Amino acid sequence: MKRIALLTSGGDAPGMNAAIRAAVRVGIARGLEVLGVQWGYRGLISGDLDRMDNRSVAGIIQQGGTMLGTSRSREFMSEAGQLKAMEVLAKNKVDGLIVIGGEGSLRGALALHRRGVAVVGVPASIDNDLACTETAIGVDTALNTALEAVDKIKQTASSHNRAFIIEVMGRNSGYLALATAVASGAEAVLLPEVEIDPEVIFHEIDEAYQKHKTHFIIIAAEGSTLKAVQLKDYIDRKGARTYESRLTILGHVQRGGSPTAFDRLLATRFGAKAAGSLADGIAGKMVVWDCGRISLADIDKIESPRRPIDNYLYELAEMLDR
Ligand code: F6P
Repeated sequence: MKRIALLTSGGDAPGMNAAIRAAVRVGIARGLEVLGVQWGYRGLISGDLDRMDNRSVAGIIQQGGTMLGTSRSREFMSEAGQLKAMEVLAKNKVDGLIVIGGEGSLRGALALHRRGVAVVGVPASIDNDLACTETAIGVDTALNTALEAVDKIKQTASSHNRAFIIEVMGRNSGYLALATAVASGAEAVLLPEVEIDPEVIFHEIDEAYQKHKTHFIIIAAEGSTLKAVQLKDYIDRKGARTYESRLTILGHVQRGGSPTAFDRLLATRFGAKAAGSLADGIAGKMVVWDCGRISLADIDKIESPRRPIDNYLYELAEMLDR
């Protein structure tokens, strides 16, 4: 293998830059030429790629976002799009490709692998919804961002004696919501993985109010079965004698920001492993975090069922919210 390319794809995640930096520098140290693809699979299809060197990734380890840009490319999902991408790789004499991104992006990498491209995937998504890896680049930073916001909201909630529903990202996964709820000491949590009757939550809110608790914080996953806005309506319709309620949607703020130390280290090790693996001639893999160790899994494992939520953590959240 002589020349590799790398791209970031899907939703950006804090730490992607640290992974790019490590992949470029390890690739070069291992004697490879490294090309950076702009704008993810969209740029791969249009041939938007350039040679990178050690200096082109200087000063980025602490920056959120991705210096290469990203996209959610519809065209790449089609056979025609994938064939165009392969033509670009062949024309530029690229022998191996590193894809840094979430579930959809790594499924794209798998599609290329099945067409014969030497790929290595690097999990990066704040949702923490990828099969096979216990965590991904960006999860820790997003969790800390959500936590900081909840801590602040708690102060105003207590001052006004209010119930707050705070919606966090995560697409169809409840990981970020559950972790935020436990780490912030929230009173309730709504998840995509758990069906819940609004009356059960309303009863808890009412009970807390009668006990003179100064606030009631509910963390709602964006994909939860009971939607944040539905719960707010329910509380407002029934709740004349309980807390006033407010709804805050944290949204994309969770995707930005300087990566935490954990994410910088994880991303550096993931990026280095991916480039090292291609330099060793090993492809068709994704880098994973498994019981505190970095290793490689077959890229087709991305199609395995998602890890379920941690039931014990959910029980703890219920137990500790008294
Ligand atoms: O996958 C990351 C994520 O931030 C999800 O949590 C969220 O549902 C989605 O991306 C938002 O996507 P977009 O940035 O395209 O609005």
